[in-house]
Amino acid sequence: MTVFSKMGKVFTFGYRDAICEIVEGRGSIASVGTLVGKERNVLAVTDSGVPIQYAESVIAQFSNASLLIIPQGEESKNFNTLEVIISALMQQGIDRYGALIAVGGGMTGDIAGFAASCYKRGIDFYNVPTTLLAQVDASIGGKTALNFGNIKNMVGTFHHPKGVVIDTETLKTLDSRHFYSGLAEVIKMAATSDADLFAMLESDKPLMEVLDKIVAAALHIKCDVVLKDPLEQGLRKVLNFGHTIGHAIEVVSNGKLTHGESIAAGMTYFCSDEMRQRLEKILKRYHLPVKSPFTGDILLPFISQDKKCNNGLITTVYVESPGTYEFRKMTPEEIADLISIS
Ligand SMILES: NC(=O)c1ccc[n+]([C@@H]2O[C@H](COP(=O)([O-])OP(=O)(O)OC[C@H]3O[C@@H](n4cnc5c(N)ncnc54)[C@H](O)[C@@H]3O)[C@@H](O)[C@H]2O)c1
Repeated sequence: MTVFSKMGKVFTFGYRDAICEIVEGRGSIASVGTLVGKERNVLAVTDSGVPIQYAESVIAQFSNASLLIIPQGEESKNFNTLEVIISALMQQGIDRYGALIAVGGGMTGDIAGFAASCYKRGIDFYNVPTTLLAQVDASIGGKTALNFGNIKNMVGTFHHPKGVVIDTETLKTLDSRHFYSGLAEVIKMAATSDADLFAMLESDKPLMEVLDKIVAAALHIKCDVVLKDPLEQGLRKVLNFGHTIGHAIEVVSNGKLTHGESIAAGMTYFCSDEMRQRLEKILKRYHLPVKSPFTGDILLPFISQDKKCNNGLITTVYVESPGTYEFRKMTPEEIADLISIS
């Protein structure tokens, strides 16, 4: 159940004994201390590309907090960084009553969340996402991850955050490329689950005028899906629309394409013709790719490594018209063929 507070800005959902409280709204970063508990011993983790004032404003709200800055970029999502975070937790003397707070995009949230899930067999984790992608998607749902070998998110856990603070003011400093990259996840959710949101994205309204509405609508979709299927055993697979080919593109591009750009291209292969035309129009408007830059042959080995591959079949998400979807089981070869023939 998703519950909005009387202000319409706080909503919570529960999973087993865990309750995740989400505080959303401009300026809400000032409420992190109250949400976490100002007397608690905390470590905040941010990355070197996130304007430092966000993490500093977070730790200033606690009587006992320190800040760790990890290098920005997807290359940091590895075991070396995990060791650095675990060492910092130990140095700060965090016990099982302490908390770890991520302040940054999906990369920081994924690795900090993983550290929180395994340090002393799990401590409280809070997330303050500062990219659009992390605000509407990565910060909700409890997936944590490290990349290993050449494979994205190969190692990970489910560890739901105790709380998420979504302050859209922080998006003001985000560069347009990462902003549009996050928008790809919004477009993804609109395509499968919300025809009204899709229409809003198709309309000529300046994006910044409707940003808060868009973030709230996408959050609703994500929370609803996660609540119904917290461990991705069924319905939650809908969030993988575009990801089967998208993840492969992201890996092969070797850092040249962002996560959002890669899944944008990945979505266009799983649509009716009419839907593809409408989708491509939105993607082009926001400078997102509409085609894979790589052939099916090149992507096939990476499609085959999809974690969702079961008995040689991958569940893909197909969209006939906005706000609808169906699951289709396909072999990696059939998926790779889609790229060659379209
Ligand atoms: N856990 C999940 O459910 C989930 C879902 C989707 C994606 N992800 C993961 O998220 C990651 C991608 O996330 P991302 O797109 O947020 O990338 P990111 O975390 O790498 O951030 C992108 C860049 O923006 C900078 N940045 C962050 N906030 C900023 C701000 N407010 N102002 C200026 N610069 C800022 C960062 O330093 C970084 O250089 C990938 O690792 C992906 O696998 C996880």
